[in-house]
Amino acid sequence: MSTGFLSPRQPWQGRRVVLGVTGSIAAYKAIAIARSLTSLGAAVDTVLTDGARQFVSAISFEGVTGRDSATELFSVDKSALHISLGVEADVVCVAPATADFIARSSQGRANDLLSTTLLATKAPIVICPAMNTNMYTHPQTQRNLKYLSENLSYTVAGPAKGALAYGESEGMGRMLEPDEIIEEIGKALVGSSPLKDKVVLVTAGPTQESIDPVRFISNRSSGRMGFSIAQAAHRLGASVRLVTGPVALPDPYGVDTIRVNSAHEMLASVSEWLPQVDVSIFGAAVSDYGFEKIATNKMKRSEKKGPFILDLVENPDIALETKNERKAKSITVGFALETESLLGNARDKLERKQFDFIVANRADEEDAGFDSENNRVTLLFPDGRCEEVPLMSKHLVSEIIMGHILELLKDRP
Ligand code: C5P
Repeated sequence: MSTGFLSPRQPWQGRRVVLGVTGSIAAYKAIAIARSLTSLGAAVDTVLTDGARQFVSAISFEGVTGRDSATELFSVDKSALHISLGVEADVVCVAPATADFIARSSQGRANDLLSTTLLATKAPIVICPAMNTNMYTHPQTQRNLKYLSENLSYTVAGPAKGALAYGESEGMGRMLEPDEIIEEIGKALVGSSPLKDKVVLVTAGPTQESIDPVRFISNRSSGRMGFSIAQAAHRLGASVRLVTGPVALPDPYGVDTIRVNSAHEMLASVSEWLPQVDVSIFGAAVSDYGFEKIATNKMKRSEKKGPFILDLVENPDIALETKNERKAKSITVGFALETESLLGNARDKLERKQFDFIVANRADEEDAGFDSENNRVTLLFPDGRCEEVPLMSKHLVSEIIMGHILELLKDRP
C-alpha cells in the first residue's frame, strides 16, 4: 500500500529573516550568512548600522539577497521601517553584534534602525557576539549578555575561541561561522524544540576494516545522509550523538560527534549509549566483513604467481546485536541500500532488526543515494504502509524522517 509522502520543509523556507549587521571586522562574514539564508528560501532583510558600513556596503547584501538593505532610521518615505521590519520578521539575528550594540540593546536604547527593530519585534532574537577577548570578558559586557539571555530570552550564540583580528594569539570573541549561525537561526525558527530532553543517536558513514597498517576495505558511503539527520535532530532541540566512520565532513554544529574506524569500534560506541537513547537512527553502511587480525607490517607482494587470498570474518550486525539494549519505548530507524529486490529486502530487515520504520534506497542510481547530495527513498512501516519519496536533497529527506519520528513520539511519550 503506497501512500503520499509528508511534504518536507526546512525551517528557513519562506520565512522572513531580519539580519542586523554591526561594526566589526566579522561583518564580511554576514554576506555569506545572507547568501546562504537566501538560497535556503528565506527572504532576508538586512539592516546595517553606521559602524557596519565602515566594513561592508549595503550593495553587497542587496546583491546576494535580491532585496533592499536598510540603514536609515529616519527616511522620507512613509514605510516606517523601524517598526515594520521587526513586526514582519519571523526571526531577527544580529551577526556580528559588537560590545556597543549589546550594551545599547540591553538598555533598551532605540537610537538607530537596528535597535528600534529589536524593540518592535515579537520574533525570536539571535545575537552573535564578535569582539576582542578583553572586551568580551569585561564584566560590563558579560552582565549585558546575561541580561539579554536571561531576562529577555534572546539566544546568545557564541562567540567561539579562535584567531582574532588584533594580536597573534587565539582568544574568546570570534564570531561563530556562517553555517553555525544558520543553524542557530534554524533553531530559533523551529521555536518550540519538540525534541527537547530527548537523546538521539545516529550512526553514519562507512566503516574501514584494516588489512595492514596502510590498507583497508571500505565502501563509498559519504556520511551525508546521517550527518544531515543529526543536524536536523539538533535543530529540533535534541541532544545528539553521532557515531561515524571515516568521512570527509566536518562535525555537525552542536552535535557530539564520535569518529570511529571499524565496525567493532562503532558497536562499542553504540552499545555505550543505546540504553539512554530515545531515538536511534542506524544510517551507517557497516562493512559486513572484516579481518580477525590486522597484519603488523605492510604486506608484501607475493613471489608466487596466482591469486592473493585474504580471509574475511563476519562483522557484528550493530542494529541487530544491540536490539535488547534499546531503551523501553524508544524509536529505532534503519536504512537499507540495495541493488536488487529493494522493497523485499528492506521489509525483511525492517522485521528482523525490529525497526519502527526503514528507509530504503537503491545503490545503483546515478543521481541519488551513495556519495550523492540527493536521495530517492521509500519508507516502509511495520503495518505495511509504504511511502515513496521522490528525488530531493538529503536535507529534505532528513526533514521527512524527523517528521515521522516526531509523529511516532507523540504515541510514545
Ligand atoms: O547492511 P544492511 O543492509 O543489513 O543494513 C541494514 C541496517 O542495519 C542499516 O540501518 C545499517 O546501518 C544496520 N547495520 C548495522 N550493522 C551492520 C550492518 C547493518 O547496524 N553490521
